[in-house]
Amino acid sequence: MNLADLLKKSLDSSLVDLIHRVADESSSLGFPLYLVGGSVRDLMLGRPIVDLDLTLEGDAIKLARALVKKYGGDLTTHEKFHTATWVFNSPVSSLQSLDFASTRRETYSHPGALPTVTKSTLDDDLRRRDFTINAMAIRVDSERFGELHDPLGGQKDLENKLIRVLHPNSFMDDPTRIFRAVRYAARYGFKIDSETLKLVNAESLKVLSGLSGERLRNEFDLIFAEKNYPTMFARLADLNVLSALEAPNFDASFVSLIDKLPEPSLSVEIDRVTLGYILWLADSSPRKIQSLSARLAFTAELTETLISASKLKSMLTELKNAKPSAWTLAIENMPLDSIYGVYLMTNEKPLFDFLSTWRHVKPITTGDDLKARGLKPGPKFGEILRRLRAAWLDGEVRSLNEESELLRNIL
Ligand code: CTP
Repeated sequence: MNLADLLKKSLDSSLVDLIHRVADESSSLGFPLYLVGGSVRDLMLGRPIVDLDLTLEGDAIKLARALVKKYGGDLTTHEKFHTATWVFNSPVSSLQSLDFASTRRETYSHPGALPTVTKSTLDDDLRRRDFTINAMAIRVDSERFGELHDPLGGQKDLENKLIRVLHPNSFMDDPTRIFRAVRYAARYGFKIDSETLKLVNAESLKVLSGLSGERLRNEFDLIFAEKNYPTMFARLADLNVLSALEAPNFDASFVSLIDKLPEPSLSVEIDRVTLGYILWLADSSPRKIQSLSARLAFTAELTETLISASKLKSMLTELKNAKPSAWTLAIENMPLDSIYGVYLMTNEKPLFDFLSTWRHVKPITTGDDLKARGLKPGPKFGEILRRLRAAWLDGEVRSLNEESELLRNIL
């Protein structure tokens, strides 16, 4: 099967030119070059290609070096993994760089270990991969441009909308593939093949729960970046992945809130992934969040955001009829992301008022003014200024005159 026409039709012409340039260089070094993995899958599904995954039967570092020499740009290499990145001087279409990998075989010293990489053939390279739909390659050099390599039945599984592993040990080797199966299934509306599904079992879940926090968190980050993340979470719960990690389910009533990022005028710079974690975990106790944070290697910042969100949620009943100054005092040291997330979850208007207005309210009088009145700087200063601010927040004073009068009364 030849996909040359599909390639030319689907890719931006500047990307086709780029592939030809790389292919010419690769040919002159004697290295067959292939588009592989996700790029081939998405091309065949008629979906936009956001990245070009290129692999060659030869020395990836040598190829990237030759390209940099000829066309300029920067080079990053990973000798151990036989990979290289060519960073362009200026972007081509939306690409800033190209990654090259030498075709490789991967072995796992024990279940869940990071693989040991050795250079090998294209066939081995396809066989080391996660699912049949990700194990196809299209040759892009020479007159064989467009030739499909599909030794494992990827095209048939794409047509039948099936996610299928290549061998029964796949999830034991790399249990992050369980997340990947769930992601692809929900993203494309595919089914996970029944034999593959059976491999998500107590044994592979045990290996999964022993993975490093960084690897596990990365999988959740990727899920929150997906449009159809609620289906993915529901599937992770069904497959006992969440319980294996002692993580809660995602409350279905919050799922649509992830798309409600704040208006820029609110000056809360929360991203979708952080908001996802808040919606997922703000109903957990601070202690539970601490243990998940250790389990999933959350950053200190994310942990603080989640714990504050959890604390804020449990403070809400108490704050119900409080004055704006009391709300402000209670929450002003919390991360804005936490306040925004809890606002979305509860629709508590004071939280919105705090973010949009209250947090910016200050008295007109400053510390310098107090000094000018002959007061000695000290803790009393802060107390006076806080009292004035509270008066503004609660509507007790509305003008400089009223503030000055209050100040006279206090002093
Ligand atoms: N791969 C694998 N096992 C993994 C991770 C990746 O076999 N645990 C292989 C797959 O063949 C995959 C390729 O490496 O297609 C590239 O991985 P990645 O960039 O993570 O995935 P994409 O296929 O590009 O998919 P996505 O659209 O989700 O990024």
